[in-house]
Amino acid sequence: MRTPIIAGNWKMNKTVPESVALVRELKPLLVAKPQQADVIVCPPFTALYPVSRELDAGEIALGAQDLFWAPKGAYTGEISAAMLLDLGVSYVIVGHSERRAYQNENNALVAKKLAAAFEAGLRPILCVGEKLAQREAGLADRIVRAQLEENIKPLMADQIRKLIIAYEPVWAIGTGRSAEPRDAGVMARAIRTAIAAKFGTKVAAEVRVLYGGSVTGANSKDFLEVDGIDGALVGGASLKAEEFAAIVKSAS
Ligand code: 13P
Repeated sequence: MRTPIIAGNWKMNKTVPESVALVRELKPLLVAKPQQADVIVCPPFTALYPVSRELDAGEIALGAQDLFWAPKGAYTGEISAAMLLDLGVSYVIVGHSERRAYQNENNALVAKKLAAAFEAGLRPILCVGEKLAQREAGLADRIVRAQLEENIKPLMADQIRKLIIAYEPVWAIGTGRSAEPRDAGVMARAIRTAIAAKFGTKVAAEVRVLYGGSVTGANSKDFLEVDGIDGALVGGASLKAEEFAAIVKSAS
């Protein structure tokens, strides 16, 4: 039985005071009832430490939105896994389509970041997903499998079983146009099948596959009910405490 994950990716939103205010608002909404899901918030780097200090009760886990692959050195502006661990971070998003688009992150770089995250003891959330033109050309499945294969190249079976994969079709991110839950399920199952082909069904059965792209309190249940989808990676709707809490509740 895979525990669902509801993760909030705050992206480049919220100053420190705003971040602290958001978790303070969120916490009481989540403790009212024992949660059936692992809940993660991923604030911007600048707010990780202040948010971490708010979270010590452990109801909510802390994630970062990115990391660098080297452990330390002359890499101006970068943040290492060890620096994230220092702040109480336990999860890290890797290969988000916005980083692939705006920072030109390629599959080889994403693979190095995944390996670095595991090496340091962080749990990576690997994002994969096709663009609209690729879906319209009937290539969604092929593109996502290719991303996945390239990205997980350096990983061992014991790491794969701990991997969290977010299927995030690029055209559904921030657009209000979510995927059809049925289609998202097809992709989630294809991802698991690809893992099974390489690492066996036992390992694949442990991998949690999330859906991301315009998830809201109103549609989250439709995704979470689909066979093969183990949770949601939420952008915009994670910036509002009530709405994010509603998504968490829908996983229970
Ligand atoms: P939205 O929920 O805003 O579409 O963003 C999804 C996302 O990119 C999460 O990583």
